[in-house]
Amino acid sequence: MVTLKSRKGITDSPHTLRTRRCTCEDDGVKAAIPPWEPLSEPVLADQRGTYDRMRAACPVAESPRGVTLFRHADVVAAATDPATFSSAVSVHRMVPNSLDQPEHTLFRAAIDPFFTPERMGALEPLVRRIAHGIIGALPRDATVDAVTEIGYPLAVRAQSDWLGWQGIEDELLVWMAENHAATRSRDRSRAVAVAAAFDDIVLAQVELRRRMGSAAPKDPTTELLAVTVNGGPLPDADIVSILRNWTAGDLSSIAASVGVVIYFLATRLDVQEALREQPGNLAAAVDEMLRIDDPFLVSRRVPTAATCVSGFVVESGKQIYLNWTSANRDEKVFADPNAYRPEEHAADNLVYGTGIHVCPGRPLATLELVVAVQTLLGMTTRFELAVDEEPIRETYPLGGWRCVPLRLY
Ligand code: HEM
Repeated sequence: MVTLKSRKGITDSPHTLRTRRCTCEDDGVKAAIPPWEPLSEPVLADQRGTYDRMRAACPVAESPRGVTLFRHADVVAAATDPATFSSAVSVHRMVPNSLDQPEHTLFRAAIDPFFTPERMGALEPLVRRIAHGIIGALPRDATVDAVTEIGYPLAVRAQSDWLGWQGIEDELLVWMAENHAATRSRDRSRAVAVAAAFDDIVLAQVELRRRMGSAAPKDPTTELLAVTVNGGPLPDADIVSILRNWTAGDLSSIAASVGVVIYFLATRLDVQEALREQPGNLAAAVDEMLRIDDPFLVSRRVPTAATCVSGFVVESGKQIYLNWTSANRDEKVFADPNAYRPEEHAADNLVYGTGIHVCPGRPLATLELVVAVQTLLGMTTRFELAVDEEPIRETYPLGGWRCVPLRLY
């Protein structure tokens, strides 16, 4: 990439210089990035509200963990400038998440074909059966939790059936709970042990198929073993990494998204009623509910050169957090962030990211979420928040809801 020297020696990418006048230094003095504590109790107690306030007061803020970007324009600029904002954020290789171009392009070309409309169409009846089984088994005369009784089982069963991992759903559910607990404990050694335990689960699936040879089931896990990049097969570490990204993080994202969507419909009975009468474009409706309360909080980047963001210099090598939840509620783009306007807001919706790392699993996530909503609407005449229990918000590393108590009618 060609980098340019801007005034006072700050190195900016051509993109940054083109789009914004650099106001990072006033008379040679760099403005200090305001501090904040993203994992402090008050912030965890109200993540989305804090992000709204931060975006208005200081669009860029720093903690010992790194620098967070809150504005839609800054998040988009960083996500679409991968030469300046690298994804190589850790010493651990994550495929394709931590890769930069040109290697990233090769891996996305290998991964994206797993999520074509044809493949999603073929998967739909299976997802429908799973959703029908889960929602059909829920009691009509008791409170149910939309996250743990619909979101988690749907995500785990759909993902494991898709990948051909039948029989280990309970193991995956236990792992997800432990993974969240480890992240929240902030105990590094616990997090490392949990990650290793997941790699063992994935590796067992890979080795099973290697042993079965030509008798291995024709599922995406087996197919991945035959994928070539740069003319050769993938090393086991890359296969495990790809499968980890398709499951470990995304099971939680889908489960959390189910909670957000059901909470929205249970509290916006006008929208629930309208969708019952005329479902229309349910994918756009679900995207908009997730934009208002995006449970996928942040993605990381690391600048390859000092760069100017909203008037502050972000030094090369700093960890940067792109705050999707905040960007998706930026008043400069969405006027009233809580207004439900699926068509109007679709083009600026960042729930699945943007740029070269845009979510490849979006078609699968959308399929599962749309089928969940269709099934819930189809198997009930109405659903509302339960009056005997309070919903509980989820906290970092996720947003949305941990518990959405519901009554089905
Ligand atoms: C509602 C559920 C989901 C949400 C909200 C979501 C959101 C996102 C976002 C915001 C990114 C961009 C990250 C970045 O720019 O660094 C991303 C990337 C990614 N997502 Fe998803 N995702 C979801 C479901 C899934 C599913 C079901 C899969 C696969 C089965 C998946 C696989 C991935 C992968 C592999 C990447 C990294 C892509 C790359 O680095 O090129 N996601 N996702």
